[in-house]
Amino acid sequence: MKPLSKLTEGIHQSDIRSVTARVNAVNGINLGQGICDMPAPDSIKEGAKKAIDQDRSIYAPFGGADPLVDRIVEKVKTFNQTPIQGAENIMVTAGSTGAFATAAFALLNPGDEVIQFEPLYGYHSKLLELRGVKQISLALHSPSWEVDFHKLESLITPKTKAIVLTTPNNPCGKVWSRKELETLLSLLIKHDIYAITDEVYEYMTYDGREHISLASMDGAFERTITLSSFSKTFNMTGWRLGYASGPKEIIGKMGLLNDILYICAPTPLQHGLADGFATESRYYEQLLRDYDKKRTMMCSALESAGFDVPWPEGAYYVLASFRPMADQPGFSNDQTACSTLIDRVGIGSVPGGSFYSNPKDGKYLLRFCFAKKENELKEACRRLEGL
Ligand SMILES: Cc1ncc(COP(=O)(O)O)c(C=O)c1O
Repeated sequence: MKPLSKLTEGIHQSDIRSVTARVNAVNGINLGQGICDMPAPDSIKEGAKKAIDQDRSIYAPFGGADPLVDRIVEKVKTFNQTPIQGAENIMVTAGSTGAFATAAFALLNPGDEVIQFEPLYGYHSKLLELRGVKQISLALHSPSWEVDFHKLESLITPKTKAIVLTTPNNPCGKVWSRKELETLLSLLIKHDIYAITDEVYEYMTYDGREHISLASMDGAFERTITLSSFSKTFNMTGWRLGYASGPKEIIGKMGLLNDILYICAPTPLQHGLADGFATESRYYEQLLRDYDKKRTMMCSALESAGFDVPWPEGAYYVLASFRPMADQPGFSNDQTACSTLIDRVGIGSVPGGSFYSNPKDGKYLLRFCFAKKENELKEACRRLEGL
């Protein structure tokens, strides 16, 4: 038989999925995979049932079903405060992952250079690898995850086409401040570079921190594609609905690519979401209160267990260091520590090395996801405290 495509050669199952299989095998609690198991809002579920009953079953326009696009326009104008005009600046996608894929195809050519900040979200780098671009990384370090902008500028070459920025960040929880975004933007303008910003955790920022969209800043919109998602905000990762916003020339091309790759995101779910879209601020306030409480539970339990814990500024993950326990058996590196937690207390986490191009940068780190039902999280914390 002839070999499969060259593209498939470098693709392997991620650490996250293999940890899930091992945790399931011991009937443990999985704090590894970033899946929120809380229910989606009733109003959205009812909206989707109604749309199915009404046979809203045909392809939607590739930019998205009109009622949903209208709601997104309103949200992006008010929450993200980016200077969009209307529907021509929005594209509904199969999760923000679909948006990232079409953004990568719309902006990048094989051989272009793209700068990312580590620790990073692995799906970005895997997709960029498929696209054949050269990935350049700037590693940020615990506990401050501070950006060295001189170093960043030194990584820019004439081939640098874009940067990818995730704020709030998965896995480390960093929320980019206005000052950091301003400095970044000055480099983007100076060197004529695009930005793809992943803002899927935009409603989860703690201790009064503000989520700021890069595209809302003067001079940024024309060079920025902003990605967002309903997956995390409404606990509906499996519905596969997200969106991109940006300049209409880029969004138009992304729409055409969206059409070629999978035509459109699921129509009845788009209508359901539009019907039930929770715009009341109390939904988001409650969401934040719930996650803040879980963040405290998770971080406190890890500290009691002996980890060094940089409390996340946003999102729902903690990237904790077990360096203080590194001389204990079973904690010599991230892979063994991850196995030790599964074997001793049935807790799944993600080895830190998977978030860095040089796995040694994550040698003493494990990522824990606290988007879990409260009882399950309590039990996980109890087990970790008894480690
Ligand atoms: C930073 C980040 N971006 C994107 C996604 C995937 O989002 P979606 O379900 O909208 O494709 C995740 C999921 O964990 C994520 O952590």
